Amino acid sequence: MTSTSVERVDYTGEGLSEDELAPTPWQQIRRWVDEADARGRNGADVPEPRALSVATVDASGAPNVRTVLMRFLDERGPGFVTSLDSTKGLELAANPHIAAALTWPAMFRAIRFRGTGEQVDRDEVATYWASRPWGSRISAWASSQSQPATGRAQLEADFDRYAAQFPDHGNDDDVPVPQFWGGFRIRCSEVEFWGGRRNRLHDRLVFTAVGAGGGAAAQDIDIRPGLDEAAAWVLVRRQP
Ligand SMILES: Cc1cc2nc3c(=O)[nH]c(=O)nc-3n(C[C@H](O)[C@H](O)[C@H](O)COP(=O)(O)O)c2cc1C
Repeated sequence: MTSTSVERVDYTGEGLSEDELAPTPWQQIRRWVDEADARGRNGADVPEPRALSVATVDASGAPNVRTVLMRFLDERGPGFVTSLDSTKGLELAANPHIAAALTWPAMFRAIRFRGTGEQVDRDEVATYWASRPWGSRISAWASSQSQPATGRAQLEADFDRYAAQFPDHGNDDDVPVPQFWGGFRIRCSEVEFWGGRRNRLHDRLVFTAVGAGGGAAAQDIDIRPGLDEAAAWVLVRRQP
């Protein structure tokens, strides 16, 4: 396809003004996530509204991105579950810098997060784990996530082996949480709300974290305030 044949869609979203913006990143995230969730349920023009693109960097500084599901969301930041021994898990252990995005094209909206990845507490992981279907819990055991696989048959044999070891009795504790499995929460230093508008003149409203005394550099990874701490964030509009 040549560049001239690419279909052009004008983004007719209503955008986002400073007047409409909630006073804290948390409150604005909550609004937009709730609206996306509703669009996921009713009519489903936003399938998987909690699909979160997560970028990490490897030892050479090269980025890596993949999609996960946002399984945690509170004033500390959005979070997801994964194998801690996966590529993303090992990259975050070596370098906690992380960036992520929730993208809702049907709503002409996106939220971008930058910050550091912090492991989710084991008790929170265990609570989430108990809510997973039995088969998903078995798969977590069966998968050495991100490692080479010899083939589909081997994966299914490994699944069957763990299924036999931890049979489904319909209980939350039928399958223990693997030590190598857990989650990360993004402690944010920056949260951007993007609203697509006509003629590509989009809105970008960005909350940047400042230190307790105000004014400290936002990229300092030690500055990771709660998302609902109004005094800890400054607002900047960026050009589209
Ligand atoms: C919609 C969607 C949801 C996904 N959810 C998760 C998830 O919650 N956790 C996870 O580890 N991988 C999830 N994956 C798989 C990841 O994209 C990725 O393949 C996997 O985590 C391995 O990534 P890594 O090798 O970079 O660590 C999901 C993929 C898609 C497309």
